[in-house]
Amino acid sequence: MGFRNLSGTDIVVNPGLSADPRFITHVGDAAALPFPDDSFDWILIVHALHHLGPAEHIDDVLKECDRVLKAGGRLAVLDFPASPQIHLAFWFFRRKFLLFFFVSEVLSRALIQEEWYFLKPYLKEWKLVRALLHHGRFDVERFRQEFFYYYLTLRKPAQSIAATSSRLSGANVNRSLTVVASGV
Ligand SMILES: C[S@@+](CC[C@H](N)C(=O)[O-])C[C@H]1O[C@@H](n2cnc3c(N)ncnc32)[C@H](O)[C@@H]1O
Repeated sequence: MGFRNLSGTDIVVNPGLSADPRFITHVGDAAALPFPDDSFDWILIVHALHHLGPAEHIDDVLKECDRVLKAGGRLAVLDFPASPQIHLAFWFFRRKFLLFFFVSEVLSRALIQEEWYFLKPYLKEWKLVRALLHHGRFDVERFRQEFFYYYLTLRKPAQSIAATSSRLSGANVNRSLTVVASGV
């Protein structure tokens, strides 16, 4: 996609990842990104928004994304919605007797319990989080909800359509991207 300036921020960064010369890693809170204003064309938050609660903190993260995105830049989010199937799936998988039927029971239980620890309060606040995402500081460019995930692309309002379209065109190979809560 022509991205040249790649980076990631997480409160915990795997040393193997930080040694990779293809991108720059930062250890820190997503609500205090170590970048100047208007730095990035794209920001990704993949499967991590539900780790960034409560809603006030998510709002701070979104403010910070707004600050470091260039005008017309995009923030893409992939996460769980508060759908009946998510509640049902986590209820189902957290039953010990049912986990017996699935491979790698101990690993599954640990992962699911850990996810649930973050997901439970996040789902309780979902209406507020959804409002922050859909009716906040960004324009909604795309939203698609699948069975277990939603994919959302938000766009920082552009100051000038001409400047933005040339900046975001595929011809510009210096586009920059950062991953917030990038993972270990
Ligand atoms: C489920 S993992 C997702 C990681 C990665 N995006 C992926 O898709 O594999 C959630 C990540 O959020 C990070 N995280 C939690 N709170 C954070 C914060 N305040 N700032 C930055 N990262 C945070 C965790 O350390 C963890 O790596």
